[in-house]
Amino acid sequence: MNKFYVTTPIYYANANAHIGHAFTSIAADVLARYHRLLGDETFFLTGMDEHGAKIARAAEAAGKEPQEFTDDIAKGFVHLAKVLNLSNDDFIRTTDRQIHWPGVFKIWNAIKAGDDLYEGEYEGLYCVGHEAFMKKSDLKDGVCPDHQTKPEKIKEKNYFFKLSKYKKRIEQLYESGVISIKPKSRANEVLAMLKDSEDISFSRPRKDLKWGIPVPSDENQTIYVWADALTNYLSAIGYGRNGDWTKFWPADVHVIGKDILRFHAIIWPAMLLSAGLDLPKSICVHGFITVDGQKMSKTIGNVIDPIELIKKYGIDPVRYFLLREIPSTEDGDFSYKKLEDRYNGDLANNLGNLVSRVAKLIETKLESELNFDEKFFDKKVRQKITKTEQKYREAVENFKLHEALTHIWELFTFANAYIDEKKPWVDITDHPERFLQTITSLVAIIINGSHWLEPFLPETAGKICAIFNQNN
Ligand code: MSP
Repeated sequence: MNKFYVTTPIYYANANAHIGHAFTSIAADVLARYHRLLGDETFFLTGMDEHGAKIARAAEAAGKEPQEFTDDIAKGFVHLAKVLNLSNDDFIRTTDRQIHWPGVFKIWNAIKAGDDLYEGEYEGLYCVGHEAFMKKSDLKDGVCPDHQTKPEKIKEKNYFFKLSKYKKRIEQLYESGVISIKPKSRANEVLAMLKDSEDISFSRPRKDLKWGIPVPSDENQTIYVWADALTNYLSAIGYGRNGDWTKFWPADVHVIGKDILRFHAIIWPAMLLSAGLDLPKSICVHGFITVDGQKMSKTIGNVIDPIELIKKYGIDPVRYFLLREIPSTEDGDFSYKKLEDRYNGDLANNLGNLVSRVAKLIETKLESELNFDEKFFDKKVRQKITKTEQKYREAVENFKLHEALTHIWELFTFANAYIDEKKPWVDITDHPERFLQTITSLVAIIINGSHWLEPFLPETAGKICAIFNQNN
């Protein structure tokens, strides 16, 4: 049996979730559910990134202790995972001293033992929003273009990680496809970013960053949040604790947004190489969701709360919209109008009508049992189903989830046209064999289509299977 390990990024516990976060999680959920359908032993991880200056400040602004503050935010994300119908096997929190911290200590010590950490002075511009140092050339009019804030000038003692030592090897990883990045175009971006990569700061003085994991054997330093956060992918499955973490490691897919590509495609592999650990097999990179063409922001007041959205439309319409309307690897736009159009057009009219038309024909006109024997099957339909499955699988495996849905819907559109063309009700008395063939073919389309739909719309697929007495 194959194993499949897929992760989402861990979400910053500084604010509640928005649809961008929901999108990342749902995309990863599709991959997890798809691999379970294939029979792979699957582990799907999501969780929270709870340390760092950004979170400590958000807690202070809310008048709470950081732990209490992150506990509350994490509760919201756990609830969201349920509402999104995520099939995650675990939910990691970086403040978990039993589960997460031992893994962070272990990787730190392994990197140190490989002589890849050294002490140095750091002088630079720190963007709290990114929890990262920025170059002057990254700024626009002196401010961070993503957060619209002026970075802080910082001069301090840090431990540095010898990232530059791994540049050549990382370059080869992408040139030879050892780590596959989807879409491929992002690999070129990684190679370009790699050229400018230097050794990176791996810790911050404890006095400036108390909310974090202390450096083992140096209590005056706190482990830099990204080294802390990335390690979640290992700690959750048992690295640093007793347990067979190699059962699932290496990760098969890290699903991430384009903004955190450098961390996952350069820093993380370098850490793993240094610690002598296997590398993830692939990184699937999605774009950003805008709202009515604008960046989502608290100032504009256009942040879409996924919980509210699901309350209004139900989970599967929201999953469908995000997975079908937003091209998986590009930016996409949310609007209520687009969501409603997708809902009415694709879900209600196309799929909904197909299911009710066929169910009604069976209920009112079919006297014999359905028989899926080849002779009751229209060859044209058989071929259409096989072709659709091939295209669907290829699309999912290339992280083109929107295309996978397009293929399934093409099949449903075909089935609706097939009913119109065959007019099965005309055949009931004079051509019962032909009637049976049409119905069998239609049911086969619905059963196959809803089977492949399960990773995307688990609730809907379940309901359709129940109507046609199938186990999903
Ligand atoms: N904590 C880090 C990740 C550490 S992983 C070891 C982080 N967290 S985040 O909460 O800011 O972002 C989590 C995910 O949400 C990222 O994949 C990010 O790209 C995604 N999104 C945040 N805003 C988004 C949109 N507007 N649209 C789509 N996804 C976006 O980064």
